[in-house]
Amino acid sequence: MPAKTKTVYVCAGCGAESAKWIGRCPQCGEWNTYQEEHIVVDKKGVPPLAPAGLITEVKPVPLSAVEGRDVVRLSTANVELDRVLGGGIVPGALILIGGEPGIGKSTLVLQMAMQLPKRVLYVSGEESIQQIKLRADRISRASSENCMVVSDTRIDVLQQHIDNTRPEIVVVDSIQTMQTERTDSLPGSISQIKECTAVLMRLAKTLNIPIILIGHINKDGQLAGPKVLEHMVDVVLQFEGDRNHLYRILRSIKNRFGSTNEIGIFEMMGDGLREVANPSEMLLGNYAADLSGVAIAAAMEGARPFLIETQALVSTAAYGTPQRSAMGFDVRRMNMLLAVLEKRAGFKIAAKDVFLNLAGGIKVTDTALDLPVAAAVLSSSTDMPIQRGVCMAGEIGLSGELRPVARTDQRVREAAKLGFSRIIIPEATRLPPPPDSIELCRVSRLADAFRLLFQ
Ligand code: TYD
Ligand code: MG
Repeated sequence: MPAKTKTVYVCAGCGAESAKWIGRCPQCGEWNTYQEEHIVVDKKGVPPLAPAGLITEVKPVPLSAVEGRDVVRLSTANVELDRVLGGGIVPGALILIGGEPGIGKSTLVLQMAMQLPKRVLYVSGEESIQQIKLRADRISRASSENCMVVSDTRIDVLQQHIDNTRPEIVVVDSIQTMQTERTDSLPGSISQIKECTAVLMRLAKTLNIPIILIGHINKDGQLAGPKVLEHMVDVVLQFEGDRNHLYRILRSIKNRFGSTNEIGIFEMMGDGLREVANPSEMLLGNYAADLSGVAIAAAMEGARPFLIETQALVSTAAYGTPQRSAMGFDVRRMNMLLAVLEKRAGFKIAAKDVFLNLAGGIKVTDTALDLPVAAAVLSSSTDMPIQRGVCMAGEIGLSGELRPVARTDQRVREAAKLGFSRIIIPEATRLPPPPDSIELCRVSRLADAFRLLFQ
């Protein structure tokens, strides 16, 4: 007998349910997010509980009676990935890797699957096994004997695949293509994603094997599907970068087993992803001092310091309204800095076009970039290059004062390691004595920094 279903409307933003379609979600306030879903119900019209057998298998025990076990983390043989995971994969963890289409998620996990000396089951709902093979040939840096592949979208048979192959890690690419019979909504719909994730969670926990899930990101940069998905999994990693550039950042957004401060940096090559151990070197690769409009920032993403080139181009506006654009930096923050430059430092840039660019196509949200951005703008505007060997880190306040930024000591050490001889930092920064090779220049106001740079 076909299962009886009921139609409900579910908010794609927050997962709220309603019996009828509503234009604006009363829970999260978003417009046009309700989608039609069909859920399986019993005779009384309520969704059935999970099969009884599964529930009774586990019994509550007193916490004191639980034997403590040292978690043995499984290293992924990939330093950057291990770092973001907090030292490796924890058995039984459900790990979600999100990212825009084409950014390299499948490449990352397949490469990991091939490098690991463990048995990995790679379930793809997106590609045929021949397509996976083509990708594997491209990467081909390690053997693929341990990597079992299957092209399937039915999550309900995953247990059978696992029984047949006895893997130590399972990869599911992607959650949006998976479906279960438990609900007859289309693949990619919220209830399918929720149900499939629940099944995967149960499998991971009962079999104690880690499952890595790939998820797509929608236009707003959110993981497609409700927030519920992020709540259900143990670890959420985001793979980001500009598709036109080679560099990719893997960021930890949630980690039940480690810090969310870590980032991993990769470079997309013709033969897979290369781990970038020293990001500064690549971000300064083409750095040519003696050019105006270039300033070096001692930046920080998560717990990782790196030096990055900020480039600005200031020119007389060709049209009435000046253009302002920023790549890799928040354009509103840039506008604020331009206003501070105009008002507090007396530079006339209101009628100029300003373009800003961070090297490598990397997005940085660190406020320490304020000072280098302002310096690059000024350098371009006056056509005076900044001396070689000088870098800077500092937040700029609305009255043109410089404010200390977090972990300046790490920034200073990174700059010294890369051979920089001077770093400009805010006056009030407290830090241990720097390495001998680098000179600290403390300044309290923007104007003082400029005097130092462009005297
Ligand atoms: P892919 O892993 O398919 O992205 P996702 O799974 O996130 O959608 O990778 C997509 C891009 O990466 C594709 O445009 C081709 C490129 N690529 C390389 O540049 N080098 C390689 O070795 C591989 C396998 C892919
Ligand atoms: Mg893919």
